[in-house]
Amino acid sequence: MPAIMQNFEFHNPTRVIFGAGQIAALARHVPAHARVLMLYGGGSIKANGTYDEVRAALAGLAHPLLEFAGIEPNPRYETLMRAVQLVQREQVDFLLAVGGGSVVDGTKFVAAAAVYDGDPWDILKTGGKVVQAALPFGAVLTLPATGSEMNSASVISRAATQEKRAFMSPHVYPRFSVLDPAKTLSLPLRQVGNGVVDAFIHTTEQYLTYPANAPVQDRFAEGLLQTLLELGAQVLARPDDVEVRANIMWSATMALNGLIGVGVPQDWATHCVGHELTALFGLDHAQTLAIVLPGILQVRRAAKRDKLLQYAERVWGLREGSEEQRIDAAIASTRAFFEQVGVPTRLSAYGLGAEAIEATVAALEAAGLTGLGERRDITPGDVRRALQLSL
Ligand code: NZQ
Ligand code: ZN
Repeated sequence: MPAIMQNFEFHNPTRVIFGAGQIAALARHVPAHARVLMLYGGGSIKANGTYDEVRAALAGLAHPLLEFAGIEPNPRYETLMRAVQLVQREQVDFLLAVGGGSVVDGTKFVAAAAVYDGDPWDILKTGGKVVQAALPFGAVLTLPATGSEMNSASVISRAATQEKRAFMSPHVYPRFSVLDPAKTLSLPLRQVGNGVVDAFIHTTEQYLTYPANAPVQDRFAEGLLQTLLELGAQVLARPDDVEVRANIMWSATMALNGLIGVGVPQDWATHCVGHELTALFGLDHAQTLAIVLPGILQVRRAAKRDKLLQYAERVWGLREGSEEQRIDAAIASTRAFFEQVGVPTRLSAYGLGAEAIEATVAALEAAGLTGLGERRDITPGDVRRALQLSL
């Protein structure tokens, strides 16, 4: 049967406010009479001036601007529940996330949990199905990577049980997101590389599957991948170039705002496995993806054959040699790119070995994640083989 594009609805309600000086626009987009809570992380926004700009933009609010600080990378349920209590106690009715993906994701959870009647962990346990409302919120993004600034997903970690779970809900799209590329110049290079790799792999999760007669989505995805390859090299050569940062920022947003994923099969196995690696061993999100993806592509090379050949030719310009050689070269080039932008792709680089593979496989089994990928047929055994290729 010929592949066909699937039916879809596409609606993305987030207003993007992009460019230098745009934090000032908060004055127009945060309701002046709302009781506003600003949520942020461990202090980077104070060091790079973002905090002061946000405060200045919101000086005209009718009520004092409240704050919740200390949302950690891979935001924790336990921490966020303290923010939920603050929201309820102070009758907050608008949230403002200022930071990276963890702060935005954490704010999404707080927005949903603050008005949820029941055990808030249900929100993660059901993947968001129980969410029927959420407080409105906006974001000021300081780390391009996750796409959280323009999507309806959130990933939360629970320290007590070493779980990392995602939820999605149309109620948690940000009302707006301010993207000022200059605010990303203070990022450590490790986070810059992480962001490029995360955006790259968001794109492959929606592209490297099987053909679905979706040439628009395919070429948008290939355009993002090629752009990220160029930008990855440029940002290493010119880390102070705000134009490069601007394009990284927009690429990361476009990679996971729903557009390239409409009507096509989606994989997400690399992300599922990666979340377990973060939950068990504390690796950065993108570090886990860089370890997992090359092995998954190898193990799935038959099921992904058509798209791997397309990827090899259109993204990497590989036209010589046999089909098998081109697929091998594309996977090797992908791994080399992650290494080039400073994200190691081997478990050993993080001090992990075969025991980490067994623990990851056991965690996937315990969570019932035994049929992953675009065809829901990636088994724990496949995951083990994939990870063994990245020892
Ligand atoms: O906490 P602060 O002090 O702000 O420091 C942060 C943090 O230590 C720092 N940082 C952020 N902006 C900075 C900065 N440092 C200097 N200058 C700046 N401008 O960077 C560190 C990492 O921040 P974090 O927000 O954790 O990184 P990222 O944006 O990569 O977010 C990762 C989280 O997002 C989830 C991941 O699983 C992980 O929990 N994801 C969310 C997705 C979504 N909502 O759609 C999809 C992704 O696949 C991903 O799973
Ligand atoms: Zn990701």
